[in-house]
Amino acid sequence: MSEPSSHQLVFMRGAFSQLLIERAEGAYLYSSDGRRILDAGAGAVVVNIGQGRAELAELAAEVMGRLNYVVPIWGSPERLRLIERLSGWTPPGLSRFFFTSGGSEAIEAALKFAIMYHKLQGRPAKRKIVSRHLSYHGNTLGALSAASNRRRADYEHVLIDWPKIPPSYCYRCPWGKRYPGCDIDCAQALEETVRCHGADAIAAFMAEPMVGSSGGVIPPVAEYWPRIAEICRRNDILLIADEVMTGFGRTGSRFAVDHWNVRPDILVGGKGLTGGYLPMGMIAVDERLVDQCEAAGGDFMFYTYSSHPLACAISERVLAIMERERLVERSAEMGARLGARLKEQLSGHPLVGDIRGTAMFWGVEVVAERNSGRPFDREIGMTRRIVDAALRRGLFVYPATGMAREWGGGDAVMITPPLVIGQDEIEFIANVLGEALDEAQASL
Ligand SMILES: Cc1ncc(COP(=O)(O)O)c(C=O)c1O
Repeated sequence: MSEPSSHQLVFMRGAFSQLLIERAEGAYLYSSDGRRILDAGAGAVVVNIGQGRAELAELAAEVMGRLNYVVPIWGSPERLRLIERLSGWTPPGLSRFFFTSGGSEAIEAALKFAIMYHKLQGRPAKRKIVSRHLSYHGNTLGALSAASNRRRADYEHVLIDWPKIPPSYCYRCPWGKRYPGCDIDCAQALEETVRCHGADAIAAFMAEPMVGSSGGVIPPVAEYWPRIAEICRRNDILLIADEVMTGFGRTGSRFAVDHWNVRPDILVGGKGLTGGYLPMGMIAVDERLVDQCEAAGGDFMFYTYSSHPLACAISERVLAIMERERLVERSAEMGARLGARLKEQLSGHPLVGDIRGTAMFWGVEVVAERNSGRPFDREIGMTRRIVDAALRRGLFVYPATGMAREWGGGDAVMITPPLVIGQDEIEFIANVLGEALDEAQASL
């Protein structure tokens, strides 16, 4: 039999360089060939608290020695502690939780809850989910149906045909307008979609508060989310905030919706919830909605691994660590420095079309022509060239799609490091990404 190879694990078109990572500490990964890599992607935007925390390893051993599985309908001390801790994180009233093994499963739970809620209220026709172009909500069929990105391509023929509106963005706007002074209101697109499909046909609107990997980070204008929330409220459409990527301090607040004081009906989380120490996702739902469903006899089936005690214990401790070390505040403070340094180092680079983001959530859009924003042809594989060039220099940046005018095109990389990085790491990221862009340009 041949030696096992990590190639056997990867079932992905265009997989990036193969690496065998043996251990990790803080923001650094150590590979089998002796390399140290600064993980400025925090993995897949996951490792908010950094890796290698002994207290979590000790906690895992303690919990596992005592208890490893409890059927999801019962309590366990770990479950109760997590619920208590999380209630201090989620927006007021979003105090009913459902836990999953990851983000996609949590998205499915959110979509199903919204559809079930309206049915139980005697409105079964309210079943469409409106979402946005340039969005990623996960890899299951429901999540792909509610998303708009190139990952849909092979499944387009079986996906549910749900309406999509443009995202809120003001860089390469398809109407050629830019904020401020822009007279196109992106939220108006939701209003028009509601008019077109009928409020009585729409169960929910779902979006990432700040677009992540499918647009290379797109923070919206300040007016956008309050307007969206108002339209949803007025039309009895549930608002689902997909905070799988933006949640738990990534954008400098507990959740991104907190920036605009918007309270969704359902908030979806994952990634930073456990900081990558164990797989887990969640939805936090407005308690009034759950009460109404329960009063109407609703029943919401669990997954076998819903609220696994070990994952609950770990995520409760991860949140406690974030509070103890003030990592949300740190994300805002160090992230502002990171953004300033990226702009200083890279904004004049011939390949850089835009640098945008906030806190520890930054995207660098890469273009073939700066004035027009024309993207590189996909065959050139520009994102991959940059990621590989950075990796050769000991830096991992997260590959993303840019927001070229044709939605879903273009190249971008995301700089989303663990929230624990310091000034030395910020310098390294800015310098090495500059060199990687130089190399990618020279390779053309
Ligand atoms: C915004 C968003 N939603 C949902 C998901 C799906 O999460 P998972 O990969 O844990 O299934 C992701 C993953 O990247 C995401 O970024």
